[in-house]
Amino acid sequence: MGNNPDATTVIDRYAVMGYPVSHSRSPVIHRLFAVQTGENLQYELLEVAPDKLATAIRQFAKTGGKGLNITLPHKSEVTRLVDDMSERASNAGAVNTLVFRDGEIFGDNTDGVGFLRDLQSNLGLELEDANILILGAGGATRGIIAPLLDVKPKSLLIANRTMSRAKSLAEHFSTQGPVTACRFEDVRNPPVYDLVVNATSAGLKGEMPPYPEDAIGEDTVCYDLSYSMKATPFASWAAEHGAARSVMGWGMLVEQAAESFYLWRGVRPDTAQVLKQLSITA
Ligand code: ATR
Repeated sequence: MGNNPDATTVIDRYAVMGYPVSHSRSPVIHRLFAVQTGENLQYELLEVAPDKLATAIRQFAKTGGKGLNITLPHKSEVTRLVDDMSERASNAGAVNTLVFRDGEIFGDNTDGVGFLRDLQSNLGLELEDANILILGAGGATRGIIAPLLDVKPKSLLIANRTMSRAKSLAEHFSTQGPVTACRFEDVRNPPVYDLVVNATSAGLKGEMPPYPEDAIGEDTVCYDLSYSMKATPFASWAAEHGAARSVMGWGMLVEQAAESFYLWRGVRPDTAQVLKQLSITA
């Protein structure tokens, strides 16, 4: 043990793995959670290339790691590396949280529940019987469909530039609720949408797809899964087109982190406090 004769003083290790990952806010958020709850842990940022992922995860577990967050581009690949996975991770086809327990790797996905908590608890939205439109049909969309269907909306429409991707997602989840698919330009004569979610990666690339303007009524809440210190292109577009509220995904970010923290430590942090602190320290 060398310089550390008392093994009980070893601090539990956690980290986020991504590629690139330097922009990740997870270390700040989890350190704030740790201070707030009095949990003794350290949280690192680890840049891991796709071909090194399996080795890096095993190495982290072997050297005292207790858990990991997994972010882009590894969320789907890591489903192959776990010993067991939650139903919500398997529904999402993606894992964002690993728990190392009894020599095994357990994979979970806290994005969906984080999104719902932000919508319901933080923003106070009533989603039962709501008409919901999701823009995009990639991994981010797949992660939120099952949680949204669980709250029994009246309709859930997935609109995407590429019709085939939207259609295959709608078919995949068709037994779980009223989910349909179309192209952006076919979002016509809509019911008034209660919620429009941007789950495309267009804004991240500085692109601005032809989002369907007719989808927004005066009571529509628009939510961009992306977040940024200034308004994202979708958030600006939604505000300009008269949305009742235009929100970015900061709340989801903090809520999914809180759920990971809970899985690891069994303690639920106060997310409102951290969301406030984050806007100062981010
Ligand atoms: P993620 O895992 O972040 O969802 P993804 O699987 O690559 O990433 O999916 C990206 C989504 O953003 C897709 O729905 C993509 O549309 P296509 O399926 O047609 O490719 C959408 N997207 C990205 N850039 C876009 C753009 N400029 N215009 C419209 N849609 C775009």
